Amino acid sequence: MTLICFTSQKGAPGTTLTTLTVAACWPGSHSERRVFLEADRAGGSVALRYGIGTDPGLLTLGTSVRSDSGTDLWAHAQPLPGGLPGILAPDAPSQVAGTLALASRSLGQWLDERHTAVLADLGRLDAGGNPHPLIHEASMVAVVARPVAEQLQPAVHAVRSSGLDLGRVGWVLIGDQPHAASEVEATFGIPVLGVIANDGRTALALSEGSSSRRIAKSALVRSASSLADRIAKELLRAGVKSEPDNGVAA
Ligand SMILES: Nc1ncnc2c1ncn2[C@@H]1O[C@H](COP(=O)(O)OP(=O)(O)OP(=O)(O)O)[C@@H](O)[C@H]1O
Ligand SMILES: [Mg+2]
Repeated sequence: MTLICFTSQKGAPGTTLTTLTVAACWPGSHSERRVFLEADRAGGSVALRYGIGTDPGLLTLGTSVRSDSGTDLWAHAQPLPGGLPGILAPDAPSQVAGTLALASRSLGQWLDERHTAVLADLGRLDAGGNPHPLIHEASMVAVVARPVAEQLQPAVHAVRSSGLDLGRVGWVLIGDQPHAASEVEATFGIPVLGVIANDGRTALALSEGSSSRRIAKSALVRSASSLADRIAKELLRAGVKSEPDNGVAA
């Protein structure tokens, strides 16, 4: 299994939408090969956005994994618009934060035995000096930011104080203004995994669950698809498997 965590530190750069779009574009033809996991300690937003429930979801998964009762990942997922399976979080921050504080360790170990890429939206990396507990279980951490100092700088502080292995961390930038990817890399010494097109119109349409041909061909979706390919390749190179050997999802 591959746990790929998307996180940010300040502003609302587009972490949730980027995670959803990269998950939807994940390479491989079987939908069972990837799942979106909502793990934002500030509370979930995807269920509210699409008008669906959160039971089953993150809380049922956390409880099952902790009680070691033997569970199936897909029993906690539901189809999102477009068909991407999603394990969603309730909107109450205390419920999400409580579950993640208790279950992240076992969840990481349990997910490690599944043959599925898990693309997780962690929301803020650091909440009041507490790094998100799932980052330590991640194969890769993608820090999402608009390339502006007020988002980049706090994110770098959060990364440095989190104790994360910097070899597993990269930027995902939303747009290239005012700072290009090369400038951001040179300034902070953290590689840029990808630049997602800054396209408010397509972002709005995606948030509403649209999946027209125009959207599929948009710069935003194309850039998310390139990012998905890049991340999958990086993980393969690092020796992390995200697909089953026999082509059958667990
Ligand atoms: N690539 C993009 N280009 C332009 N606008 C975007 C892009 N991605 C997201 N947005 C817009 O940015 C806003 C925030 O998006 P989103 O909810 O994904 O961000 P977030 O970082 O998860 O925020 P929060 O901190 O509230 O969880 C939304 O209005 C969304 O439509
Ligand atoms: Mg979000």
